[in-house]
Amino acid sequence: MEISLRAQSMPESPIRKLAKYADEAKLAGIHVYHLNIGQPDIKTPPQALDAVKNFSTEILEYSPSQGLKSLRTKMVSYYANYGIDLSPDEIIITAGGSEAIMFAYMSCLNPGDEIIVTDPSYANYMAFAISAGAVVKSVKTDIKNGFKLPPVEEFEKQITPKTRAILICNPNNPTGYLYTKQEMRQIRDLVKKYDLYLISDEVYREFIYTKSPYISACHLEGIEENVVLVDSVSKRYSECGIRIGALITKNKAVRESKSICKRCMTSIWADVISSLTSSTRFPVSLRRHRQVLSM
Ligand SMILES: Cc1ncc(COP(=O)(O)O)c(C=O)c1O
Repeated sequence: MEISLRAQSMPESPIRKLAKYADEAKLAGIHVYHLNIGQPDIKTPPQALDAVKNFSTEILEYSPSQGLKSLRTKMVSYYANYGIDLSPDEIIITAGGSEAIMFAYMSCLNPGDEIIVTDPSYANYMAFAISAGAVVKSVKTDIKNGFKLPPVEEFEKQITPKTRAILICNPNNPTGYLYTKQEMRQIRDLVKKYDLYLISDEVYREFIYTKSPYISACHLEGIEENVVLVDSVSKRYSECGIRIGALITKNKAVRESKSICKRCMTSIWADVISSLTSSTRFPVSLRRHRQVLSM
């Protein structure tokens, strides 16, 4: 029996393609540095591990679709540290950033709609787009200029009547590039001019190794209703396995879309480790890691 056309059209994960070479090298006694997976090389903070160890309940019950309010309230103060003004209602807790990307696609894009993504990009943007029936159009960035944002004309060349969204990853995976204020304004102007969604994946917010300011899509004035922020605790607290992320938007219609509402079932862990998503920006170990790398 054949598998679905959708499954057949999924590109092979580039990470998997490389994994076998890494395994062979390891067997040959070579030390392999895994740059292929976003697993931070820092320890998970002890508070999070303690919260998991000390978790006790009599019933592992469903949590609310939008995520527990206690967690969303703590996240509001975390974002306030970055000058991002939110209310708990504007945050939806998801199963990692991955589910937030999927929900963003499902709520903002119709099958056949196009989304512009800078290339190279996080490989799963493409796979999730195929699941959502959307089409990815790439705008190439170049190592020769440090992967800075291509000029507006390069984006405009890709814009068609089917274009519904631009997706940026800031700071970028895999290039590490942090968009400047001027570049973020360029994106804002495009989004405004063509009335597009701006899906902004900012899961690497704490991994900035220069003194340049971090400009979130949520800082951009005039496109508040267009912005959908993707976030996750995976990287900043080195908690990839806990599967807690968030989809954040001021756009009520997106938040309340049926693609999200009834499907979202966050894990019990979301509240267990919610103590971590307080006003603390990131764990001490990560702060030290950042100092070492920025020297
Ligand atoms: C840029 C980017 N966004 C989102 C994700 C998904 O993260 P999560 O583990 O929270 O699903 C990753 C994971 O590697 C990533 O690199």
